Amino acid sequence: MSDTLNRAKKFCDRFGLRAPILLAPMAGASAPSLSIAVANAGGLGSCGVLLMQPDEIRSWSREVRSNSNGAFQLNIWIPDPAPKRDPAHEARVREFLGKWGPAPSAEAGEAVPPIFADQCGSMLEVAPPILSSVMGLYPPDFVKKMKDRNIIWFANVSTVAEAKAAEEAGADVIVAQGSEAGGHRGCFDASEAEAKQVGLFSLLPAVVDAVRLPVVATGGIADARGAAAALTLGASAVQIGTGFLRCPEAKIHPAWADALARTAPEGTIVSRAFSGRAGRSIATNYVKAALGADAPRPSPYPIQRGLTAAMRAAAAKEGDVHRMQAWAGQSAGLAKNEPAAVVFQQIWDGARALLN
Ligand SMILES: Cc1cc2nc3c(=O)[nH]c(=O)nc-3n(C[C@H](O)[C@H](O)[C@H](O)COP(=O)(O)O)c2cc1C
Repeated sequence: MSDTLNRAKKFCDRFGLRAPILLAPMAGASAPSLSIAVANAGGLGSCGVLLMQPDEIRSWSREVRSNSNGAFQLNIWIPDPAPKRDPAHEARVREFLGKWGPAPSAEAGEAVPPIFADQCGSMLEVAPPILSSVMGLYPPDFVKKMKDRNIIWFANVSTVAEAKAAEEAGADVIVAQGSEAGGHRGCFDASEAEAKQVGLFSLLPAVVDAVRLPVVATGGIADARGAAAALTLGASAVQIGTGFLRCPEAKIHPAWADALARTAPEGTIVSRAFSGRAGRSIATNYVKAALGADAPRPSPYPIQRGLTAAMRAAAAKEGDVHRMQAWAGQSAGLAKNEPAAVVFQQIWDGARALLN
């Protein structure tokens, strides 16, 4: 067996997987059915708990455990301090958003995310085999609690410097997120999200060389060619988000799923238009307008998320992808409308054939 396949096999043996393919954590798009399908196919399921209350985290985990072998990760954003409010600027953003959906209410910007400490408490209680972090690192006391419970820490990073910091802080596995990735960029410092965009072809070998830990590759991988390339560049496994979103088990809005199929790499764009934090989505009419020179800059996270909620809800009701939060990686066009087990097996069989 080649060194590349040996490295992947070592990773699979350590985590009880039949193939080195991980479902990416996707807050708001982590249907239990998708994790169940991926885990039962021999991969790792996953849940982005960002928007979930502790009881939702518990019930998601119960459902996935009772319908699979329980191979999954729970993932959370490391929060930033609450942003400063700017009522005058928020009024301009509300006025702009009023052209795209129902006018956001005066309180829309006040929506607060679930309490991080409570979410962390329920993740420890659930004690999945793996917990992952993004947008920063778990604090040392939490890392100790994870290690006391034999929970493995996967740290998402988007630069070499972040990978080194994660290794230093006690991470067990590094997940290197290339700038091709769909959804929010995982950079630790939100202000650097646009300036420090590194594609996976450059990021992955550099991270592999910089740390002693196994590295998982994510961002723009959606078929056998991408998976084989990432394993060749030194990854121990690949993590796929957008590539699974058209599977029926993902249960995303049909207008979003259909639009993914029509999206070329240059048809996605990084913006702060939905949440106030940089993320890659389809370059829809709303996103292009929000990036326009005459549009007010988005409010900071999570204020912008609250301000855009009414527009997003109306878009979902009307099936209008142009105003939906249609997150998409640059390989969206490769995503297939097939059961997740079929997508999974095709990627792994094809990657193995290329690597043998
Ligand atoms: C809809 C969506 C939601 C996401 N939410 C999260 C999240 O909550 N936590 C996280 O670490 N990454 C999140 N990501 C990023 C993915 O984990 C992963 O880095 C990305 O999907 C990889 O790129 P790909 O979409 O091209 O496969 C999200 C991605 C998408 C598409």
